[in-house]
Amino acid sequence: MTTATPAVPRTPDDVPGWFWKVDQDLFSWFLSRQSAAGVSGDLLELGTYLGRSAILLGQYLQEGETFTVCDLFDSEAPDESNSAEMAMSYRKTLTRAAFETNYLTFHPRLPEIVQAPTSALADGRIPAGSCRFVHIDASHLYEHVAGDIRVAREALAPDGLVVLDDYRSPHTPGVAAAVWEAVADLGLRPVCLTPEKFYGTWGDAEAAKEVLLSRDWQSEGFRTSEDLIAGSTVHRLAWDAPAPTRRPVSHPTARRLAHDLLPPIAFRALRRTLKGGV
Ligand SMILES: C[S@@+](CC[C@H](N)C(=O)[O-])C[C@H]1O[C@@H](n2cnc3c(N)ncnc32)[C@H](O)[C@@H]1O
Repeated sequence: MTTATPAVPRTPDDVPGWFWKVDQDLFSWFLSRQSAAGVSGDLLELGTYLGRSAILLGQYLQEGETFTVCDLFDSEAPDESNSAEMAMSYRKTLTRAAFETNYLTFHPRLPEIVQAPTSALADGRIPAGSCRFVHIDASHLYEHVAGDIRVAREALAPDGLVVLDDYRSPHTPGVAAAVWEAVADLGLRPVCLTPEKFYGTWGDAEAAKEVLLSRDWQSEGFRTSEDLIAGSTVHRLAWDAPAPTRRPVSHPTARRLAHDLLPPIAFRALRRTLKGGV
C-alpha cells in the first residue's frame, strides 16, 4: 500500500514509468500521421501503470474517438505468477487514484478505464475493428501476452498498428515468445523495432514503413538500421542520450587550485618544477 502522496507531475516525463524518447517520438509520429491522413479510430492501452504512455496517447485523441485503458491498478491479479510480478514491480507505487491524478494534470477528461485483468477485454467490449492504435504493455507472462495479442487483432482496424513492449528484454522471455509466435502463426507483420518495443500491423506493413521513412530520423540524431526477417525489411531505431559534456580541467584552474590548497612553500616548489618543463 502507498502511504505518501506522490508529487503532481509538471511534465509527462515526470510521471514514473517505462516510456522513452524513441518510442515517444514514434507514437507521436504514427498517431499524428494517421490523423493527417484522415484516419480515425479508437485508441487502446493494455497496461497503463501511472500513465506515462497513456498521457501521450491521450494527446492524439480526436473528436469522436474513444481512448480505453485497461490495468489492474489496485486490484488482485488473476493468478499467482501475475501476482508475484505485481508485487515485485508495481504494488508499492501504483494506485488508480495516482494514475487519475497524473492523467488529469494533462487532460480535461479521463479515458475509459477498465480496472481488470486484460483478459476481461476478450469479452468483446472493445468493438471489433474499432481501433487505429493498440499499445500492449501489461503482464509479461506468455499466456497473458498471447491473449492480449488476440484482443489487439480483434480490436484493430485493417491497417491499425499494434505496439508491444518488452519483446526482447532478458527478464521477459514470455513476451518474446508470444510476439514472434504471432509473427510466425497469426500473420502479424513487423514494421519497426526499438530497444523496448515492437511495432506491427495485420494490415499493410509496407504503407506503415513508408510513413515511418517519410521522416529523416538519422538527421535528428536517431540511430537507424535495417534487418531482413523472412524476406521482409524491418527498421530498427534507437536514441542514445547525448553524453554529458565535461569541461577539461585547464592549467590555470589546476594552478589556482594548487595555490589555494598547498602550503606556500610546496606551491613555490611545484611552480618551479612546472616551469622546468614537466
Ligand atoms: C510496465 S507497466 C505499464 C507501463 C506504462 N505503459 C508506462 O509507459 O509507464 C505494466 C502495467 O500492467 C499492469 N498489469 C500487469 N498484469 C496485468 C494484467 N493481467 N491485467 C491488467 N493489467 C496488468 C500493471 O498493473 C502495470 O501497471
